[in-house]
Amino acid sequence: MDLLVIGGGGREHAVVKALKKNKSVEKIWCLPGNGGIARDAECVPIKATDLESIVAFATEHRPDFAVVTPDDPLCLGLVDRLEEIGVPCFGPTKNAAILEGSKVFSKQLMEKYNIPTAAARTFTDPAAALAYLQTCDYPTVVKADGLALGKGALIVGSFEEAKDAVENMMVKKIFGESGSRILVEEFLTGPEVSVLSFTDGSTVVPMVSSMDHKRAGDGDKGLNTGGMGTVAPNPYYTPEIADVCMKTIFRPTIEAMKKEGRPFRGCLYFGLMLTPKGPKVIEYNCRFGDPETQVVLPLLSSDLLTVMQACRAGTLREDMVKFETGAACCVVMASDGYPQKYDTGYEITLPETGEGEEIYIAGAKVSDGKLLTAGGRVLGAVGKAETLEKAVERAYALAERIEFGNAYMRRDIGQRALAALK
Ligand code: AMP
Ligand code: GLY
Repeated sequence: MDLLVIGGGGREHAVVKALKKNKSVEKIWCLPGNGGIARDAECVPIKATDLESIVAFATEHRPDFAVVTPDDPLCLGLVDRLEEIGVPCFGPTKNAAILEGSKVFSKQLMEKYNIPTAAARTFTDPAAALAYLQTCDYPTVVKADGLALGKGALIVGSFEEAKDAVENMMVKKIFGESGSRILVEEFLTGPEVSVLSFTDGSTVVPMVSSMDHKRAGDGDKGLNTGGMGTVAPNPYYTPEIADVCMKTIFRPTIEAMKKEGRPFRGCLYFGLMLTPKGPKVIEYNCRFGDPETQVVLPLLSSDLLTVMQACRAGTLREDMVKFETGAACCVVMASDGYPQKYDTGYEITLPETGEGEEIYIAGAKVSDGKLLTAGGRVLGAVGKAETLEKAVERAYALAERIEFGNAYMRRDIGQRALAALK
């Protein structure tokens, strides 16, 4: 089989490596991919949002199956376009990807179907938003409706901060049209859990839970990033909580989307907060998380391609999706300065990987046969072991053997999870 994978980060590298384990896979094209993915797939420099060029590429090369991973092409309707030309896809169609594409849509869906989430109000008029923000308790949360590169949710501590947020989103439009509508949302507290799931539109099968580390610095200090590391499973996510989530969140969401005429097929990511009043939805993502995927897929013992094909065909069963009992940790190695200004172009030296080790490249290019840094997040060093403690040790031991100029990593990935286990 010939496969097409859309995207070019560490997550896509993990997807490509997992797909390659299937013996029937002969070829994988990755668009655009990156210099590291190029070791495992044929990368073609076509942007993930360039739908016309991707459709033209697929028309010419006729892949047997396509996996669309990033949010923007999903929300733009790439799956619809590829299916139209007869390429079966893993990923939601445009009318289902709206679950991530519009936070107003997803909030209204949760309210209509009684899915637990933070109470919220929607505003299209800045003056009305400000009038409301003068009356509410702080901290509160201001969210842009649309996609905003993960920067669209702001926790504001005072009316002044809220006013700035409204000004930036609705008037200055720093996120473009994504900020034309905003949500003002109740501030929730509790441990956060990411649960990715496979779904064929009717059946939903959760994957092993995980924990992201979004802040740039140790101790969860510093700026928000795309994610500096992950561990799986998340120790806060007990079997009892998993049961509650299945009954009150996962199944009701899939049912709701079906009833709305928007059946969701693909990977649905539930961003949850375990509040004192029970688990609540913080956000839905219509795709695999990055860097959650880098710890979840190494623990998947079932064949990824088979599961993805079942999601597309509507034949997914719970017993098709099996995970190992151990744990995994991903330490993201970034360019120092990320998520703000940083230098790139440094040569990356990669060691041989051994048992329980994986390296997923996120931001690198090949130049004169050398692998050079080319992004903020450069790669993920992943360790897998029987216990979380050993997985964390293994990930850091691997990271120590990887070299490139200007490298930066957090030193405490997994420490919060380990403390929770004790
Ligand atoms: P989002 O873009 O909606 O995933 O939000 C990004 C981050 O903001 C989440 O991972 C949470 O840490 C935080 N957050 C979002 N909504 C809330 C909320 N209602 N209460 C507390 N924290 C929140
Ligand atoms: N790690 C969070 C995300 O992929 O949105």
